[in-house]
Amino acid sequence: MKNLLHLLGSKYPIIQGPIGNMNSPQMVAAVSEAGAYGMLALGFISDPEEARRLIREVKALTDKPFGANVVLLNPLVREILTVIAEEGIKTVTTSVGRPDQIYPFIHQLGLKGLHVVLSLTHAKKAEESGADGLVVVGAEAGGLRSRQPESSTMVLVPLVADNVSLPIVAAGGIADSRGYRAALALGAQGVQIGTRFLASTESIVPEKWKQMIVDCPDGGTTLIPVEKGMMTRVIITPWLKELLDQPGIDLEQAINYRDRIAAWERGDYDHALAGAGQVSALIKDIKPIRDIIEEMVS
Ligand SMILES: Cc1cc2nc3c(=O)[nH]c(=O)nc-3n(C[C@H](O)[C@H](O)[C@H](O)COP(=O)(O)O)c2cc1C
Repeated sequence: MKNLLHLLGSKYPIIQGPIGNMNSPQMVAAVSEAGAYGMLALGFISDPEEARRLIREVKALTDKPFGANVVLLNPLVREILTVIAEEGIKTVTTSVGRPDQIYPFIHQLGLKGLHVVLSLTHAKKAEESGADGLVVVGAEAGGLRSRQPESSTMVLVPLVADNVSLPIVAAGGIADSRGYRAALALGAQGVQIGTRFLASTESIVPEKWKQMIVDCPDGGTTLIPVEKGMMTRVIITPWLKELLDQPGIDLEQAINYRDRIAAWERGDYDHALAGAGQVSALIKDIKPIRDIIEEMVS
């Protein structure tokens, strides 16, 4: 089996989880400078030259390795991957879409790729498609989910490790050294961290969003329907709780997730929804990326 650290080239087997289009070259560089694998989120980019600009901005800030995430449903994914290869990135992660249609192209460009999977079935398909590794994301994670019943990280990671012979990165529910060590014990070679890095000093999400993560209690998140038949995990706000309590409501229409994201820009925090994982309940402070990583590997 390939070694994850060879694929990443970083000191620690910790990957920064991509967060929509919340791109901050400063944050990616901070993750890489602290010894982990910074990850530029290029999934929703609509101009490949914007991808080039962002990559160059990271390169100006660090000479440590970093990667890029692409979303396979993006119609410009091949153009974006071409820019990524031209700019010298070695390993990408690929999310949401069919890996069989893209991995031959990824390898043709001389890139390596880890495919993001939410189930054992998807993990097997990714292996057959030639992925070099997997990011295995349990149901407690922040980010997009399917509308099928899904397994938690504690179940999914060993299940995939038993059935697939690719290096595994565990994601979902990991925020500290306990989660990191547990992931390695379950058969992963590394971890991907989303929510804990969102609530970091360097994160570019609004401070209110970070504080909602810190204040989130046990059971304080839920999955809500979003477009394209998917779900996403968010913190339950009073406004959302009211909607959830209404019987027979069309939640997708009532929530209108795009408008909830736009609400951040309007400063309408009563109606904004913060994407975050269940692990928010374990996060008690907003601190620098380097401190998070050093505690994790301690
Ligand atoms: C608000 C939000 C947006 C996300 N956007 C993406 C994305 O664009 N692409 C992706 O592959 N994963 C995305 N994720 C998933 C993360 O990269 C990561 O896998 C996940 O957050 C790990 O679980 P954790 O939140 O428990 O750490 C997102 C997560 C959050 C919380």
